[in-house]
Amino acid sequence: MKRITEFLPGIHYMGVNDRTKHRFEGLWPLPHGVSYNAYLIDDERVALVDTVDAAFTERLLGSIREVIGDRSVDYLIINHMEPDHSASIHAVRQAYPGITIVGNAKTLAMVEGFYGIGAVGTLTVKDGESLSLGKRELTFHLIPMVHWPETMVTHMAVERLVFSGDAFGTFGALDGGITDDQTDTAKYWDEMVRYYSNIVGKYGGPVQNALKKLAPLLPLEVVCPTHGPVWTKEFPRVLDLYDRMSRYEPLEKGVVIAYGSMYGNTEQSAERLARELAARGVRKIVMHNLSSSHASFVLRDIFKYNALVIGAPTYNMHLYPPAQSLLDDLELRGIPGRGRVFACFGGFTWAGAAVKRLTEFAGRMGWELAALPVEVKQGFSPDKTDDLAAIADAIVAKH
Ligand code: FEO
Repeated sequence: MKRITEFLPGIHYMGVNDRTKHRFEGLWPLPHGVSYNAYLIDDERVALVDTVDAAFTERLLGSIREVIGDRSVDYLIINHMEPDHSASIHAVRQAYPGITIVGNAKTLAMVEGFYGIGAVGTLTVKDGESLSLGKRELTFHLIPMVHWPETMVTHMAVERLVFSGDAFGTFGALDGGITDDQTDTAKYWDEMVRYYSNIVGKYGGPVQNALKKLAPLLPLEVVCPTHGPVWTKEFPRVLDLYDRMSRYEPLEKGVVIAYGSMYGNTEQSAERLARELAARGVRKIVMHNLSSSHASFVLRDIFKYNALVIGAPTYNMHLYPPAQSLLDDLELRGIPGRGRVFACFGGFTWAGAAVKRLTEFAGRMGWELAALPVEVKQGFSPDKTDDLAAIADAIVAKH
């Protein structure tokens, strides 16, 4: 009898949905929740691929029992050791004492470091090595730093299937459907950009290396990540998105205006600039007040759109803290300036530092300023309209 979890013959979805966690990694809001995906391969020998967050261990064990009854799980394949996927290892091993934990050398060192599990009952695999389950064969490919050092994927050549770890994953719980053709995927695309830009965004080079390494496995018919739907027909779109984002290539034309403001004066500059852009025909303008927009959404939009304007007041002879925090996030991710347009503006009361800091930031990033920065002393004045219009002209010219 085909079971409800069986999305391919002998391959079962064992994941869970988390719609209550406030912030993923203690950092990232989850407006659509998140799934932790594990998979079971029911062959002559049974393999579990990854586990789930600690809060859902019992649910995972129940799902496994529902499929295999009293049989045992022979292998636990660990593609990614981060605890949202590995936290149930102990419980799985207690339930199935004969299980062999399969990982590369870096993975197994982390298994010992996090969970105190030594070499007994483990199998170290090298890049390109295979493991037979009977009818099916698994081959392991290391893709380090996507986004941890131990990350790897597990390939099934005959099925043209990859268990990909976090690669090709997205925020967003599964609403019934397991595969992309069983669900409306509309909610995942922006969440995929947010997931990528915040969690993987620093590692564009390693992601490009991983894509090159996986290229000989293409075309893939089924891609099973650790978060979000299983990709089938829509995988080419996912692959294109990961390729472009890891090249730091903007996905769309649009202007992000990210600004801080204490009393609304810098905000008036932001509003005026937005009007000037709209008056010049720019239709995609995304405004983020940095005191109210969570940084993860700001970063998502900066990765997504090709023009960015940052505005901030001076604070403590430095940059307004939410704006400084954004600059730190951008520097950490090393977004190059090619293909992007940048401008800035700022304000001060008795001595200006904001524009100076923003200009220095642009220099460190190698970002060319599209126009002279606009600096407002004390209250916003309509006299600055022409200067802000000059920024709008420059952006439209380069857009
Ligand atoms: Fe979903 Fe990197 O853990």
